[in-house]
Amino acid sequence: MRVGVPRETKADEYRVALAPAGVRELTDAGHEVVVQSGAGEGSAISDADYAAQGARLAPDAEAVFGEAEMIVKVKEPQPSEVALLRRGQTLFTYLHLAADPELTRDLVASGATCVAYETVEDGGGRLPLLAPMSEVAGKIATQAGAFMLEKPLGGRGILLGGVPGVAAATVLVIGGGVVGMNAAFIAVGMEADVFVFDRNIDRLRELDTAFGGRCSTVFASTLAIEQMLPDADLVIGAVLIHGARAPHVVRRSQLALMKRHAVLVDVSIDQGGCFETSRPTTHSDPTFEVDGVTHYCVTNMPGAVPITATYALTNATLPYVLALAERGLAGAIAADPGLASGVNVVAGQVTYAPVAEAVGLGFIAVADALAASR
Ligand SMILES: NC(=O)c1ccc[n+]([C@@H]2O[C@H](COP(=O)([O-])OP(=O)(O)OC[C@H]3O[C@@H](n4cnc5c(N)ncnc54)[C@H](O)[C@@H]3O)[C@@H](O)[C@H]2O)c1
Repeated sequence: MRVGVPRETKADEYRVALAPAGVRELTDAGHEVVVQSGAGEGSAISDADYAAQGARLAPDAEAVFGEAEMIVKVKEPQPSEVALLRRGQTLFTYLHLAADPELTRDLVASGATCVAYETVEDGGGRLPLLAPMSEVAGKIATQAGAFMLEKPLGGRGILLGGVPGVAAATVLVIGGGVVGMNAAFIAVGMEADVFVFDRNIDRLRELDTAFGGRCSTVFASTLAIEQMLPDADLVIGAVLIHGARAPHVVRRSQLALMKRHAVLVDVSIDQGGCFETSRPTTHSDPTFEVDGVTHYCVTNMPGAVPITATYALTNATLPYVLALAERGLAGAIAADPGLASGVNVVAGQVTYAPVAEAVGLGFIAVADALAASR
């Protein structure tokens, strides 16, 4: 198979979808890899690094999309990239379609087959291609929140860990999955008072054991959240219902309960945001204020630390890229049924039920869509 790796075009995105190690494994297995010149630059990977492992360099995105049977990316395709997709081509990347009806319709119209990293499942129903970026985003969430609490940045002016004689700040993490656990680990490390809220009791049990009493776990009822908001200096939103639009766990009316210039970090913004007042922001302009509360809602948080994030991502995606190149989509699904849940669009039809429901389009099962497209 000919695999194409374009340079990412989303604002402040410095990751790349394949590292030189991946090029080596694909070319050793007899596949061809076309990398857009400069694609690795943001992650400190040169064209020569790719060429040394057998990649062919292409001058622009048009050449990569034109030649490749499978496009491997990091972020959802931007309009100029959607225009380059075609029927019969496979796109493998983060998509987050439930929060983006327009992109969903454009991908359907492209005729391409689109596999979303964030909905691929493993044998245990976990999300192996979301997890590495959630680990990174969770750690950044607390760092960013701590920074935004500083007075010159518009925050309350409180140090997360306090000092001897002055109390620590209170951090509330809503959603104790991969993002939430990593955010809490950093907050505990910074010596804040940390509370993790979730609706899954088994998950709360796991967190309680993992933290050994260094943070409190609480069932995330609306009342419990309301009772905690007046104390919180930093609230990190990290809830997820697989593939669906994020539920709102803090409403606008509840902002009035919070301290002036407290900080909300909405990591779930890529699924539409879990605070009612959230809207997507970028690394160059990461925050805005609503009712005296600072909101940080960057949709590609790991893009800020590409030297970590590119390798964390490609370590996880490479086995899937190899399987898709080797067996094609239907063959790769036969060998690993969890890959089927990653398939969001096939040849003009939506094949992932939560996305079809969220954007109001018809749904067809992956197997039926693949059979029909043959
Ligand atoms: N902004 C970014 O750059 C970025 C990067 C990585 C991940 N994310 C996003 O972060 C979010 C969380 O990802 P994750 O990997 O931690 O997911 P996860 O599935 O590991 O964890 C989600 C947790 O939310 C809990 N939950 C669901 N509904 C809830 C509710 N109403 N109240 C309280 N808890 C609830 C679940 O029980 C689960 O423990 C996702 O939307 C993901 O796409 C964003």
